[in-house]
Amino acid sequence: MHTYTTQTALRQKITELLKVNKTIGFVPTMGALHSGHLSLVKKALAENDVVVSSVFVNPTQFNSQTDLRAYPRVPEQDAKLLEQAGCHVLYMPEASDLYPEGLQSEVFDFGPLGEVMEGKYRHGHFAGMATVVKRLFNAVTPTRAYFGEKDFQQLAIIRQLVKKENLPIEVVGCSIAREADGLAMSSRNLRLNAPQRVAASVIFESLQQLKEMVGVKELAKARIKTIENLTAHPELAVEYLEIADSETLQPISRWEESKFPRAFVAVFCGEVRLIDNIALY
Ligand code: PAJ
Repeated sequence: MHTYTTQTALRQKITELLKVNKTIGFVPTMGALHSGHLSLVKKALAENDVVVSSVFVNPTQFNSQTDLRAYPRVPEQDAKLLEQAGCHVLYMPEASDLYPEGLQSEVFDFGPLGEVMEGKYRHGHFAGMATVVKRLFNAVTPTRAYFGEKDFQQLAIIRQLVKKENLPIEVVGCSIAREADGLAMSSRNLRLNAPQRVAASVIFESLQQLKEMVGVKELAKARIKTIENLTAHPELAVEYLEIADSETLQPISRWEESKFPRAFVAVFCGEVRLIDNIALY
């Protein structure tokens, strides 16, 4: 695996690859890699000649300095895991390489997609995320880019960005990798203590119970019951639980309003904010 810390060096390698018509699969990450990230790398390897991954904890997408500081950073371990997974090229820059003019987000209009859920509760998050992804796309010029459904709204926003900016990139969505007890894998899980880790498994359990209520219980009642199931655990505090259409991400108030309803949840487990989602069809 070749590791680069600057876009200039990375670009040289990419130009070489493009000259010989290699297809490039790209997996952007913020590191502290787990099997969820590596499942994206695996899919990219199966579908492209070369796989490029990036590890960069992007400051502009954090709306809490505490969260940014606490974000796990294990660069050597990440490089090792990527190499073992078969990744060919790693881009691991300092902030100044992606933000030569300072840590500023660009301005985007995501429309209704950006107004709900993560857009509503994490101000500036998607602008920061889209800023760095646009710059990474520009540096890597991938054939295909891989994003997890764990961050379902992020995936939808990236698809819209690629369409709007007319980028010749195929965005590939990948299913959520889960721990044995159902907890969605996340770098933030490393910050949970033992009782919090046990409580966190209730998130997926509650989403599955909600799925069983579809068409049986009224939507509003099913939603409230799910919030009650979650908050029955003293470690858990629900920030939002939305039932929304999988495409528009706009909340629905009756099951008949969407053919492809999906539940989205953000829960604080102690200080740690966890998100998850599940298809309800
Ligand atoms: P990060 O949280 O490191 O996630 C990198 C990619 O891995 C994202 O596409 C995310 O959806 C995916 N992923 C994380 N956990 C997953 C799981 N359990 N199953 C499947 N996929 C999973 O998302 C980001 O970084 C950043 O916002 C980034 C796109 C890199 C821009 O900074």
